[in-house]
Amino acid sequence: MVSSCPRLTVGSCSFQGRVCPLAFKSASRPGRSHAVAPACVAAAVELKTGKPLREEVITGSPDNNITDYIYDKMGMDLHRQPDHPIGIIKQAIYDYFEARNPGLFTKFDDRFPIVSTRANFDEVLVPADHISRSPNDTYYVDANTVLRCHTSAHQAETLRAGHSAFLVTGDVYRRDSIDATHYPVFHQMEGVRVFSEADWLASGLDPTKLAERDLKDALEGLARHLFGDVECRWIDAYFPFTEPSFELEIFFKGKWLEVLGCGVMEQRILDDNFKPGHKAWAFGLGLERLAMVLFDVPDIRVFWSNDDRFLKQFSAGDLKSRFKPYSKFPACYKDMAFWVSPEFSENNLCELVRSIGGDLVEEVTCIDTFTNKKTGRTSNCYRIVYRSMERSLTDEEINALQEQVRSQVAQVLKVELR
Ligand code: DAH
Repeated sequence: MVSSCPRLTVGSCSFQGRVCPLAFKSASRPGRSHAVAPACVAAAVELKTGKPLREEVITGSPDNNITDYIYDKMGMDLHRQPDHPIGIIKQAIYDYFEARNPGLFTKFDDRFPIVSTRANFDEVLVPADHISRSPNDTYYVDANTVLRCHTSAHQAETLRAGHSAFLVTGDVYRRDSIDATHYPVFHQMEGVRVFSEADWLASGLDPTKLAERDLKDALEGLARHLFGDVECRWIDAYFPFTEPSFELEIFFKGKWLEVLGCGVMEQRILDDNFKPGHKAWAFGLGLERLAMVLFDVPDIRVFWSNDDRFLKQFSAGDLKSRFKPYSKFPACYKDMAFWVSPEFSENNLCELVRSIGGDLVEEVTCIDTFTNKKTGRTSNCYRIVYRSMERSLTDEEINALQEQVRSQVAQVLKVELR
């Protein structure tokens, strides 16, 4: 069966996959064959903000793989809505860092989501052959431009602009499978803090140790600020942008949960984009993941709901509220089997199903697969779960959607329905 979490098959992947912020981790360190010219451009660049125009996103370039379904989510900025769970978590993290180091961190939460492949990948040292660069995983505007797939895309430019401590929050975009914890748009926060020689001399530690110690203290404190007096543990990890790298896990409601990825910034990123003779730490975390755990939200789609029964349950500054399901409407299951073609990918299927069924699609899973011994052809059977969080669906509307899915799957994905 096709993995439901293709980017993470090399690393452990808790929380059913990828609301985890950690698509860039992997079990072993890949080679670093790529070469990127240093980007030591002194930066007083005009930064674009706001909702992109449709033609800036859906460009007609042969590399463009962005649908209107995705475009329609842009500019919704859940992280900038103070009473929305995503906005509440963001603010709680900002408040924590403000209390720990008053005035130190500059906060950005309106960075334009369309970025160059250079910013998204090269400048944070993502290897040329890394799976996250694939158009199967990332939304390409054109060959050199993507919807950012992580907020790490803003590390280098923010350092070049001279900032030495910052938090960048934004919507990020990834092509992926569909289930209760996976959504093609979610929100991340990136944190960076740079230390100077005076800092490590004053601490009596070597620069890497100082960065590591401050990073771990800051993030353990953050976990306790959000989740109460939880037990924390550090797992060694690998990210292209940090060395050493770690993941923080907390023991919450009887389980170890991965909360974020972090580490001491790769020296090259700092040397190429800041001033020589400094050391830094960086972290990246997924806001939906934290909000789902903290507020007991069972389905990631609910964050995009305009239903007052959802929105009225949360208010700015309140970390104590827990989501009360207002009702659970019945699900409708539709199975579909086809002979796959060599180009078939599960992400492409999910993208297509989303573009037809929108947020009525709760889950797409491969429930059966077999290969015909004689012909060598493989057949997959997918189950699509349709469910609205707001109302009961009629048979007619689901049948009509499923018919569209069937005909589009055959035409667009070039597979043979069975
Ligand atoms: N960018 C990573 C991701 O999306 C998360 C991350 C991990 C960011 C470690 C960092 C870091 O800054 O140091 O999967």
